[in-house]
Amino acid sequence: MFADIDAVQEEALKSLSTAGDPKAVEAWRIEWLGAKGRLKGMMGSMKDVEPSHRPAFGQRMNALKSALEAAFEDQQHDTLAAGPPLDVSEPGTPTGQGRRHIISRTTAEILDVFARMGFETATGPEVEDEWHNFSALNVPENHPAREAIDNFYLEGGGMLRSQTSTVQIRVLEHKPPPVRIVAAGRVYRPDTHDATHYSMFHQVEGLYVDRGVTMVDLKSTLLGFAHAFFGDEAEVRMRPSYFPFTEPSAEVDMKMRVKGSWQWVELGGCGMVDPNVLTAVGLDPEEWTGFAFGLGVERIAMRKYGIADIRWLFENDARFLRQF
Ligand code: DAH
Repeated sequence: MFADIDAVQEEALKSLSTAGDPKAVEAWRIEWLGAKGRLKGMMGSMKDVEPSHRPAFGQRMNALKSALEAAFEDQQHDTLAAGPPLDVSEPGTPTGQGRRHIISRTTAEILDVFARMGFETATGPEVEDEWHNFSALNVPENHPAREAIDNFYLEGGGMLRSQTSTVQIRVLEHKPPPVRIVAAGRVYRPDTHDATHYSMFHQVEGLYVDRGVTMVDLKSTLLGFAHAFFGDEAEVRMRPSYFPFTEPSAEVDMKMRVKGSWQWVELGGCGMVDPNVLTAVGLDPEEWTGFAFGLGVERIAMRKYGIADIRWLFENDARFLRQF
């Protein structure tokens, strides 16, 4: 009688060992350990056992049940750990794809237009000294632009640059003219953050120094950029202004498409390089002339893409950034 049970146990364990995946293991469980399974059926035959043998039969059946349950758990664990067989022809699970930040992309597009107009790309450090940020750019010692409240001065000297005009000096110090460069990057000014103000933003600086450079070259360069970047209907307007590093100086407006209609947008400043700037880098202003301009990248990107709040650009909320 117990020999029969031994044989059943052997059969059950053998069949379990061939169940290679979680589905087969579950089918085995239903067949052997289920509510209507074979073990239940064998238990039901207790009534056919001679009463004096019943306790021993019950014990043996319990041992069988324990053995099958333990074997089942082991097999279930093993097949789940092994996972389903790998089908290498299945398409993979898509992972979120990153993309370039809208400011990086806009900057690259601006630089690309100027590159096609013959401007090389230059860079300069974000941690600067006052010579490059102010003095060499003809900003007097007592000029309000230098005030502590409007700049990030660093302990132990130096500052975060407040404008990319610093790169004009960085380039002219090392490279003899003719020089024709654009430089893009971050600039820093303490500000209360709101929809249009942030204490860090991006500028694109342009500089052309050569013999006989005129205001006409400046205007046609800016117009060439406007047409390439905003389309043939774009226009450029220069309004007289003042910057220490240019003389004469002007504010630059460009007429661009904003939400479907053409509007004038103030983008930055420009002018003819001040003779004092040329002197500061050891160039003779009698021989060399130049123009310079500085454009705000956020202003361009926000109008172009209809972004209402500058803070969204720097909060790194993927739901916002994914849209571009
Ligand atoms: N650096 C100026 C600013 O941040 C912008 C600027 C004006 C740059 C005139 C220039 C320039 O190169 O010629 O407000």
